[in-house]
Amino acid sequence: MGDTSLFLRTQVPPFRMSDPAFAPFPALRLRRLRRSPALRALVRETDLAVTDLILPLFIRSGHQIRQPIHSMPGQAQITVDLVAAEAREIASLGIPAVILFGIPPVKDPVGSAAWADAGVIQQAIAEIHQAVPGLLVMTDLCCCEYTDHGHCGVVNDRTGIVDVDNDPTLELLARQAVSHARAGADVIAPSGMMDGMVAAIRRGLDGAGFQHIPILSYAAKYASAFYGPFREAAESTPQFGDRRTYQMDPANAEEALREVALDLAEGADLLMVKPGLAYLDIVCRVKQAHPGVPLCAYHVSGEYSMLKAAAEKGWLDERRTTLEILTAFRRAGADMIITYTAKDAARWLSE
Ligand code: PBG
Repeated sequence: MGDTSLFLRTQVPPFRMSDPAFAPFPALRLRRLRRSPALRALVRETDLAVTDLILPLFIRSGHQIRQPIHSMPGQAQITVDLVAAEAREIASLGIPAVILFGIPPVKDPVGSAAWADAGVIQQAIAEIHQAVPGLLVMTDLCCCEYTDHGHCGVVNDRTGIVDVDNDPTLELLARQAVSHARAGADVIAPSGMMDGMVAAIRRGLDGAGFQHIPILSYAAKYASAFYGPFREAAESTPQFGDRRTYQMDPANAEEALREVALDLAEGADLLMVKPGLAYLDIVCRVKQAHPGVPLCAYHVSGEYSMLKAAAEKGWLDERRTTLEILTAFRRAGADMIITYTAKDAARWLSE
């Protein structure tokens, strides 16, 4: 270190409002830094990279079927035997991760196909790992794709209303998580909004020797109309009622912070806010409350379909709109984004 007097002598005095840097127009002109692409790139605050993206895949039973999803142009349910080729394409685009949703051949009241060793998800995980060992495989963990009533757990009228019974559902979720981990899932992502689900899954995973598998909790998931197209995709529309006794009221923000705090206390490694675009305030507040915890935003099916429909009509520039939305997620505080646009975005970002 030595003599510090030089350092003290050369120190710049603090800025004052009278400094030219704080002077109003005409001294201060923010357009100066927008004059060229190179300048704009230098001062850009937010970046968007293909390594921030996670692509959802819908896996169904059967052979050599690519079943387009009518309400989600460009997306399809695919059979397990098409997954390896799909994974190779995804990896070649530089997309680092996928999240899997399963459409089982048979559904029952408790969704037992969800933890079958030869279930669609379990088989798909193995196919992907064999085809592309480096591709990260996340699994959505929920009952609604597997139950015949389409709700996210065990349904009964024990409390006086017909509803999903929380604690018996936790057992099923833990069982499903262990089954996914045994099949090779890299990250478990519970989306059912059951109280205590993260703790129950953590206990289940740890008990089965999967202490190393992280949990990405759908911590603040709203009862949103934007999931409409997904329910066609996953064939998971509730056969009666809705999900408002477990998913959050779109009018609430403080409650999202309580949900997030609880999930962290239960051991969540990563957090998710869902949907994304209509909930950027929540993304921002969660990131501010927990800056050190990796945060994921889910750009959901309805948000994707709106964009596709407007683009098909020629009302919006699909490429520019998509990249603007994904950048907005990042600017709001999302570290990673689950999006059906991942393949297109990867191509656009590499150009
Ligand atoms: C399962 C689940 C849903 C979505 C992700 N996981 C549907 C729902 O909660 O009804 C929605 C994803 C999307 O709309 O893209 N619980």
